[in-house]
Order: sequence, then structure tokens, then C-alpha cells
Amino acid sequence: MVELQGTVALVTGAASGIGRGIALALAREGVRVAMADIRAEVLAAAVREVRARSGTAIAVELDVTDRGAWERAAERVDRELGPVQVLCSNAGINFVGPTQDATFEDWDFCLGVNVGGAVNAVRTFVPRMLRLGSGGHVVITSSVSGLFTSGGAGCYVTSKFALVGLAESLRGDLAPHGIGVSVLCPGPVQSDLFESTAAVRPRSLAATGSVSVIPPGVRREETPIFVTALTGEEVGRRLVRGIRRNDLYILTHPEIRPVLETRAAALRAALPDEAVDPQRIEASRGLLDASLYAGEALKPPPR
Ligand code: NAI
Repeated sequence: MVELQGTVALVTGAASGIGRGIALALAREGVRVAMADIRAEVLAAAVREVRARSGTAIAVELDVTDRGAWERAAERVDRELGPVQVLCSNAGINFVGPTQDATFEDWDFCLGVNVGGAVNAVRTFVPRMLRLGSGGHVVITSSVSGLFTSGGAGCYVTSKFALVGLAESLRGDLAPHGIGVSVLCPGPVQSDLFESTAAVRPRSLAATGSVSVIPPGVRREETPIFVTALTGEEVGRRLVRGIRRNDLYILTHPEIRPVLETRAAALRAALPDEAVDPQRIEASRGLLDASLYAGEALKPPPR
């Protein structure tokens, strides 16, 4: 999708952090942006910011887990801005702590928002994009935690791995329809994630095994991970480039290379050291089709 100017985008989790950055970056490209979030007041401020920079944006108060609300939101965006051609499913919540300490409530909350919210986005908007027949692009925000883990945060990591699978599958399915799909896998980015997770957690799912990563008395803004993190706007600019290039993976941190390579080597090492059966290859031709990845591997690295 080379021409973004004049199109309409829907961005979830747009009140702060990465979603706000995506909205600002898209608006700068002349995209009219429906900014969706569950935190109405913070969202209103972010919409004002986009408008203050001459962008076109509307606020859509939306709980991404509420399927009925998705349908109403789609109708409203259609009416007020026009049909959505760029869908950015970005809303998410965090979980920190040993996987075995995650409660059923943690699992329901994390998978419900992170995976369920993206499924609802895709289910609501992709059929509309297909009916419109003018192509488009879907971006799903996963994380580096969707590519590898060092332990801990199991709920979050499970949800983010699921989103990589969702995006890769969708990319294969939508390519014949001229709709691109990318999965955004950022490393640390300055955002409200810890605060927003606490603010949006439903009372019915309050019981948690999640722990704080910030030691008592330490200001998050002063931690090395926050100080060296990217801003949401920087991520937004990389996302715009990723859409233009139709990149499958939009990565933001070159520092993850050794971990990705070590994980790939671990997978290679786990392959059975046995002769390959040509009949099995023939029988699983569809399953073994790697063209989705091969095209990406041939692309020049982003400048
Ligand atoms: P953020 O807290 O600034 O943005 C997340 C937004 O999602 C918030 O505005 C929140 O209100 C909204 N949200 C949460 N539950 C919702 C619901 N049920 N319905 C609608 N909106 C809801 O945090 P950030 O970091 O910008 O998060 C955006 C995405 O980026 C998340 O999916 C997160 O997992 C992912 N991510 C963040 C990284 C980081 O270092 N900040 C790194 C990698 C991925």
C-alpha cells in the first residue's frame, strides 16, 4: 500500500504510547485516523494533539473485548471518516511475573484483551476491507515478546506469540486480495503500559499473580530501560515505512539479533538427524510452502 494519503485508518490503544505514535505518524501522511481506546479522557487529549498538528482524527471510545461495540464503532467510522483501509490492532495490557503464578483471571484478562481484541478487530474490519475491494493494510502489534522469551511474563508472551501467528496466517490469506499484513514487534518503548493495565483491568478479573518490575521508591522514568526506550512517535514512523514496503515484520531494536539467531539455531538443532522422506515432502507440499517468509528474506534491510 504505497499511497497512504487520503485513506482512513483505525488504531486501537491510541490514547498513549505506541498507538498515539502510530496515529500521529499516519495523520502526518494525510491519513484520517479513528483513534480507539477504552480510556476516554486520555484518548480525548491524544485526539486533540493530532488535530493540533493539522491532522484529522476522531475519538472512538471502545473496549476491544466488546464485540457489539466493535460493530457500532465500524459503522460510526464509516459514516464520519469513510471506509477503513488501514487497520492497526495495537491495544494491549501487560503481565509481569512467573508464568506459574498467573491466575485464571490473569490469563482471561491478558488473552482477552491482547488476542481477543485483535481477533475482534480482524473479524470486524477485514470482511469490510474485502467488500470494498481497494486493498489496504493490517498491522498487528505484537512485541519482541512474540519472538522469544527469557522466562517470566508467560501470559503476556503467550498472547504475543499468538499475535505473530495471527498476522503471519492473515498475510498468507489476504495477499491474493491486495491487502498487506505486518506484525509490529517493538522492544522497549516509552508508554503508559503499566499504568493503563491497572486502570483498565475489570473488577471481575482483579485477582492477579502479576508483580511490579519497578522496585519500590524507583521512578520508572529514571530506569535505564525507560531512558533508552524509543518513543511512540519513532515507532509510528517505522510503522509507516513498514506499511509502504509491505514488510511482514516491523522490528525496532537491532539489539535483539543475537537472541533471534540463538533461537533459530536452537530450532535447527532440534531437527531430527534423519534422512528426509521425499514422499512426505510431496504429501505436505502446502504445509511446507515457505514463500511467505522467503520474500521477506530477500528484501533489502531498511535504511
Ligand atoms: P499504552 O498503555 O501507552 O497503550 C496501550 C493502550 O491500550 C492504552 O491506551 C489502553 O487504554 C489501551 N487498552 C487497554 N485495554 C483496552 C481495551 N480493552 N480496549 C481498548 N483499549 C484498551 O502502552 P503501549 O506500550 O503503547 O502498548 C501498545 C501495544 O504495544 C500493546 O499491545 C503492548 O503490548 C505493545 N508493546 C509495548 C512495548 C513497550 O515497551 N511499551 C513493547 C512491545 C510491545
